[in-house]
Amino acid sequence: MEHAQLVCFEPSCRQEYAITDVIYSCPKCGGLLEASYPGRNLLPESLKAVWRKRRCDNARVEQSGVWRYREMIPFLDDESHIVTLREGNTPLLPAPKAAAWAGLDHIVFKHQGFNPTGSFKDNGMTCGVAQAVRLGMQRVACVSTGNTSASMAAYASAAGLRPVVFIPHGNISYGKLAQALEYGALTLQVDANFDQILKLVRELSEKLGIYLLNSINPFRIEGQKTIMVELMDQRDWNVPDWVVLPGGNLGNISAFGKGLRELLEAGFISKLPRLAVIQAEKSAPFYDFMQRGGTDFRAVENPETLATAIRIGDPISWPKAKHEILTTNGVVESVTEQEIADAKAQIGAAGIGCEPASAATLAGIRKLRAAGVIASDADVVAVLTGNVLKDPDYIFKYHTGALKDPSGNLLQSTYANAPVLVPNDMDRIAAML
Ligand code: F0G
Repeated sequence: MEHAQLVCFEPSCRQEYAITDVIYSCPKCGGLLEASYPGRNLLPESLKAVWRKRRCDNARVEQSGVWRYREMIPFLDDESHIVTLREGNTPLLPAPKAAAWAGLDHIVFKHQGFNPTGSFKDNGMTCGVAQAVRLGMQRVACVSTGNTSASMAAYASAAGLRPVVFIPHGNISYGKLAQALEYGALTLQVDANFDQILKLVRELSEKLGIYLLNSINPFRIEGQKTIMVELMDQRDWNVPDWVVLPGGNLGNISAFGKGLRELLEAGFISKLPRLAVIQAEKSAPFYDFMQRGGTDFRAVENPETLATAIRIGDPISWPKAKHEILTTNGVVESVTEQEIADAKAQIGAAGIGCEPASAATLAGIRKLRAAGVIASDADVVAVLTGNVLKDPDYIFKYHTGALKDPSGNLLQSTYANAPVLVPNDMDRIAAML
């Protein structure tokens, strides 16, 4: 018999809870929670065929690049609770010039910026909001560096729930703030950073009975797991050598690792790719922690980076992230503001584009390549987490030589492509061209 439950992630605890319990950490030991499906029997060969066939089905649930793989995430008991905006279905984009810049023979970007609200958060949010509907919740809340709030606002409003968004005042991009407003969220700007606001929101939501949709919510992780399922499906189940992603609160690495382990366990794939997490240098507590051998986790008090999506000093999911890095023989790297800015311009010049946090991937790959960790002929998939239009302000400043790091130092606009002011005069413009 298939059944779904919540389980404490801590190996020494593993306490089990009902799938409908409204809890975000283990009441017994305080550990992180995960969804688990004891007795689940996945049949890879038939499911691969079923999933492929569903791609051509016009039913909304099959058009979703998350729910199409619902056998991997069977936590609902009623499909009418599903809220979908046609999330997932994100492309694999080869980029020869970006590969050459990083020192690789080839690279493929899996671009999560093609999601309905422009980031990978939609993969998780469709599941988190479905669970909120199932539980009969009326309000949902999150703290966010911008993408989670945009996504939650959209999915909650689509479901008829009330979204309440908390953001660090002055430290999210306008594109993301604008989305929260447009999608109808009650938007509270707090004069504190992400880590401080997360503590506040966790207490508030408990007190007021508001459903919390940060990535500590195990159902968000279930949805984000399917990014790896879709990736393997798109590659006809050929496993790459590396999957590289940026790390902030470390929910996504936790999701990728869980998804890949479950695929391996069920026999969909025969090995695991190595996972590489890239952090911004001044917001890199997980990098520091793994450098110290994965003992004694210490938060970064005042995290800084222009890649505001990953400006997080006290990532909640570090125990899961550590497990997934160790299980996949993975690595953690950190990159500078300059490296992120130049990598971003390279991804843009390849005709692809992404937001700053996403570009940490290519910057990290270049560094790992130079250090000999990644081989030049390696099969590398870099996950671009957010759309290029999320943060146009950053782009304009870079290309016009005005981008300053958080300490106020001007960054080099190595690959600047500034707009050119011309007179309204055909002959003079023709002469310029
Ligand atoms: N890339 C982008 C574009 C993000 O928005 C985030 C996280 C990450 C990477 C890091 O993912 O937290 O799972 O390690 N953004 C969150 C937010 C924190 O509030 O939108 P992670």
